[in-house]
Amino acid sequence: MKSPAEFPDSPLSRAMRQPLMLGLFLPIQSGGWSMSTLPRTTDWTFDYNARLTKKAEALGFDLVFGLAQWLGRDGHGGDMRYRNLSLDSFITIASLASITERILLVSTLHILYGNWHPLHLAKFGATLDHISQGRWGLNMVTGHSIDEAEMFGRSGHFEHDERYRMADEFVELMGKLWTLDENLTFDGEWYSTKNAFSSPKPRYGRPVLVNATSSPAGIAYAAKHSDLIFITSSAGAQIDAALDVLPAHTAQIRAAAADNRREVRTLINPTIVCRPTEHEARAYHEAILSHGDFGAVDGFTGRRSDAKAWKNHQREQRVLGGNIQIIGSPERVVEDLLRLKKAGVDGVQLTFFDFEPDLAYFGEAVLPLMEQAGLRVAVDPA
Ligand SMILES: Cc1cc2nc3c(=O)[nH]c(=O)nc-3n(C[C@H](O)[C@H](O)[C@H](O)COP(=O)(O)O)c2cc1C
Repeated sequence: MKSPAEFPDSPLSRAMRQPLMLGLFLPIQSGGWSMSTLPRTTDWTFDYNARLTKKAEALGFDLVFGLAQWLGRDGHGGDMRYRNLSLDSFITIASLASITERILLVSTLHILYGNWHPLHLAKFGATLDHISQGRWGLNMVTGHSIDEAEMFGRSGHFEHDERYRMADEFVELMGKLWTLDENLTFDGEWYSTKNAFSSPKPRYGRPVLVNATSSPAGIAYAAKHSDLIFITSSAGAQIDAALDVLPAHTAQIRAAAADNRREVRTLINPTIVCRPTEHEARAYHEAILSHGDFGAVDGFTGRRSDAKAWKNHQREQRVLGGNIQIIGSPERVVEDLLRLKKAGVDGVQLTFFDFEPDLAYFGEAVLPLMEQAGLRVAVDPA
């Protein structure tokens, strides 16, 4: 199955030509990424996220992406009942196709919860591929939380590496349905089908495929199937600590992809707190921290999960959130983005504390400096 990266005119190829890919992580869950009660505009509603998406597109961002989480009535708890309200990622991101023109749209789906069949996703994905003209992508997650698995009626997790073997077979069958021009009969270990056919065929081989991982099984899966992989710092959120471990991590992923004669792009998630001066940025960060909702932090970290990627994030770092944190003046932010690129990171998926004003300020103050530094090309870098 060909990737859209193999078509020079695909929206994915256009995005991949940027020196540093730029994505926005949409706050479709209440509280966004930050467990702090300091007042802000960040809002989970569709209108707010639609405005952010249009703004990101106008600024030339390459992609937007939404998280999928299943939580009980109080979310992760705390005073703010962190993430107790949320929109569904698959539907929300898909519906952004008709109000945008250029930006890639990545939906998350827990493919192993309930009874999703590859035939569903082949049809849904190809339909969205046509509606968005090749801009839609699927972040295939296998579900790391036992609490979520139980919500879907299972008594526990599928074993960690088995989940990736199931996902591998899911993609294999979905890929056949995306490409074959004849009816398909398939008898796999977990999925089967008889005389199935899916139309339309995607415009550029298949939709964009994404996954988020740091485990050997997840990296092996990504190297085989994904175009984009959301990576994490195993050293916590502090940027210098992250920069120590990222070169080896990104090199390992690149090598795994090369073994499959493929390319994958690695994207990491920084939360950016940027103000005109270092002093102002640090003061704002302090204010966010002083309103930390540690009840929410403890609820979040107390989930029953087998994901190891965020285990080294300190309790205080969770208040602002983000897999890594960049705090400072516009010049400092660009310096840190350059260091990430040197560490082998191909792109960033940004989160902010107060999304709407912070994104606007990023566009105004940081993006022009990124262009000057050669991290972004203003027009299509064809
Ligand atoms: C940037 C990023 C986004 C993620 N989005 C989701 C998500 O929306 N839903 C989810 O269940 N897990 C999500 N995860 C968790 C991953 O799917 C995965 O379970 C986790 O990274 C552990 O994978 P591993 O055990 O292969 O290392 C995300 C992880 C990262 C780093």
